[in-house]
Formats: sequence, structure tokens, C-alpha cells
Amino acid sequence: MTDKKFYIETYGCQMNFADSEIVNSILLEEGMKPVHEAEEADVVLVNTCSIRENAETKVWNRLKELRSIKKENGELTVGVLGCMAERIKDKIIEQEHLVDIVVGPDAYRDIPRLLEEVDDGRKAVNVLLSLEETYADIAPVRTTGNGVNAFVSIMRGCDNMCAFCVVPFTRGRERSRPMESILREIKELSDQGYKEVTLLGQNVNSYLDGENTFTKLMDEASKVDPEMRFRFSSPHPKDFPDDLLHLIAERPNLCNYIHIPAQAGSDTMLERMRRPYTREQYLDLVEKMKSIIPRVSLSTDIIAGFCDETEEEHQQTMSLMKEVEYDLAYMFAYSERERTLAHRKFEDNVPEDVKKKRLSEIITQQMEIQARRNQNEIGNRHVVLVEGTSKRSDEQMSGRTDTNKMVVFDRKDFKPGDYVEVEITGATSATLLARPIGKTTLQDYYGAEVAAA
Ligand code: 5AD
Ligand code: SF4
Repeated sequence: MTDKKFYIETYGCQMNFADSEIVNSILLEEGMKPVHEAEEADVVLVNTCSIRENAETKVWNRLKELRSIKKENGELTVGVLGCMAERIKDKIIEQEHLVDIVVGPDAYRDIPRLLEEVDDGRKAVNVLLSLEETYADIAPVRTTGNGVNAFVSIMRGCDNMCAFCVVPFTRGRERSRPMESILREIKELSDQGYKEVTLLGQNVNSYLDGENTFTKLMDEASKVDPEMRFRFSSPHPKDFPDDLLHLIAERPNLCNYIHIPAQAGSDTMLERMRRPYTREQYLDLVEKMKSIIPRVSLSTDIIAGFCDETEEEHQQTMSLMKEVEYDLAYMFAYSERERTLAHRKFEDNVPEDVKKKRLSEIITQQMEIQARRNQNEIGNRHVVLVEGTSKRSDEQMSGRTDTNKMVVFDRKDFKPGDYVEVEITGATSATLLARPIGKTTLQDYYGAEVAAA
């Protein structure tokens, strides 16, 4: 196995990117060498996403491209990892030369053995899901990041069973990673100079390790390094803990930003989606967030055109979004997935053009809200964590506020990982422009609050 060159490419959510870092670690441990392009590799692994049809289409197209590279280089091994593994498993029997190895999200430790099977001329498959695997003892190897932000996976799988969602089937049952292994990883990241950690899980507020809840985990994490910022994704509106809101309000390094997926704005639709909360309960939660954390910034996920959606239900989604005024929203047209409750019980009966029209209404309204909210930022001061040079110009740096807004400002002598106090001078719907005031630290900037906490 040693000496083989490998390349991993990743599609889908942050959780998938975190998983690729685990696979990285497993392959490096085997003595394999990472390369930067598929063309240079002996083994190409594609970490895949199934969440919507177009996510899968992207992967299928890429696999076809890889097949043509394979035709020129007969030695190339192509593997599929992640959420599409189960589905691809069935297809590799029919499509002879597509891929050599298929590995589900809980079987990554088995990759070295599977690669050996391929060397012996067999196809190798392991898509078994596990009730325990959390890869707690594997230290992810981060090769693609900026050295400032890191993702740390705190749990795997999902038990929510929202009617539209394939994740419980691709990633299996929910399980939490032991708290001490998470805290150890955070400490190592802090020692390596990372400045921001996002804790990841499909449903972080049901995190449970013995007595340790998600609030306890955030409490302990924030104390590991007071100059390290923490975010998390994603919580569920159904059992969001109050004590976490108070903790976020108190601690300067817990970001005032919460991603709180609503999915829809009417009780009838929420019920069909099997989302166990009402519009009123959701709005009450949002009110509580805004009152306990006055500067809080909120984002959400919305699905347009789910089964049987009426115009009235669509309008309620629009009105919910207007009422909350999210700073950011991820908005999707419903895409039917096999095995889900919706696939088994309901009909995907909102015509494609109606889905598109509703989605575009939702997006247009949201862009207006964002543009307005960003305009209102002009004159405000923020602490920005510098992530790198701006995409547009080398003379500018970019980074995010505590409230997760992207800010661009003059380079001066700022470096990635610096905290810079800025004053906002301009805005678009996606980015804020600012005048840098000077370097700072969380403890200096929020000094008084730290002393009180
Ligand atoms: N169709 C469209 N969007 C979906 N999501 C999950 N499943 C589907 C689907 N079948 C969206 C949800 C979820 C986000 C990660 O993706 O909004 O919160
Ligand atoms: Fe992530 Fe869901 Fe896509 Fe899997 S299906 S990669 S969990 S977004």
C-alpha cells in the first residue's frame, strides 16, 4: 500500500469535508502520499453527497470524467465515499468500469484493506453503517484549509426522520463523540494556531455524552482558548436549550450567530415534513434568541415546493422569512429522494415550474432583506477574524464578523488569524466593506464583558 499517491475530492456539506480529513489521516497513516490533482494520483476518492438530485448528478458527471482518465491510466483506482455509497454499490455491478471501491460513511477505517482487495483484482465494497463509530481516536489531517478555521465533528448520523431527508438513511443512527476527545482536538487546533472552530453534527442540540449536554460541551470548549471563536451547525428548533442562549450571550468567543433551519412557515407543511414544531413555537424561539442575545444574527434552510404545497403555504413561508429577517438563508427546491417517508407516502406533485417560481420569489425577497440589513450595518463596529486575502484584490483582506458576515478591508500589515476592529463603510447583499481601525484581541475588545463572565 505504501508509496501510492492519493487524491480526495469532496462534495456536499461541512460534515463531508470533515470526514475527508479523517480519511486523509487514515491514508497518511498507511504511508500513502497526498497529491494535488486527480491526474497525478494512483487512487482517487470522491466523497459524495445525496441530499438533492443535482448533488448526485454532479458526482455522476465527475465519475464519468474519471473513467476517461482511467482509460489512459489502467492502474488508477477510483473510489466512492460518503452518502452516495449505498446507491453506487448497486450500480457498480451493472456499470463494470465505473469505480473500484465503495465505502460508506462509517467504514473509513476499512479503506486500507479494501484497497488491498482492489490490488488483488476485485471490486471492494463496505457500506455497513455503525451504531458506535465516531472516529473519536483519529486526528483529522487538515490539508486544504487556511489554517484559521477548522471543523470538528461532534456527532454522526441523524434520528430526526424529516420526511424529505435522506441523511438518516445514508449516515445512519445518531451517536455522540466523547466530550474529552472533542476537547483534546480543540486544544490541538489551538496549539497549531487555529482561531475558529465550528462544531458539526446533524442535530447538535441532541448531543449527549453521559451527563454532558451540548451546552456543557460549548461551555468547556469556550474555556479551552478564550481567543478562539466557536460556531456550531446545525441545531434543531424543536429542543433548543435556553441555557445555551445565555452562555452565548455571556462568552465573547461564542459567536452571536445561529443557523436555525425552519424549512417552512405553515403548521400544515411543517407537519407534513415531520418537523415537530409549529410556526408559533418557531417564532417564539426566534424572539427568545433575539432578546437574550441582542446582536444575534440568524440564518436558515428553506425548502420550496414540497409535496402538496399550496400557494397559501408558500405565502406563509414567505411571511415567516419576512418576520424573522434572516441574515442568510440556504434556499432549495424540493428534490425527491428514494427511501424517505415522502417518497414512500406522498407524491412529488408540485410542478417543476411552480417550484422554480416559488423558490425564486423566496430568493428575491431574501436578497432584499439581506441588502437592507447590510445597509443598516454601515457605521457599526465589528471584530473581524482575518481569513485571507480578498478574492477580488490582493490589496484587500477578508474575514468574518462574530455574526458571520463577510467583510473586506485594506490589507495594511494584517495576517490571516488576526482579529481586526473595523468600522463598516459600505454594503452589498453578500459582503460588507470596512475601514480597519486596528488589531485587537477578543479579551481586549470585550474586556468588560469577560471580567463579568
Ligand atoms: N430536497 C431539497 N432540500 C433538501 N434538504 C434536505 N433534503 C432535501 C430535499 N430532499 C435541505 C434542507 C436541509 C438542508 C441541509 O438541505 O433544507 O436543512
Ligand atoms: Fe452532507 Fe447530507 Fe450531503 Fe450527506 S447527504 S454529504 S450529510 S448534505
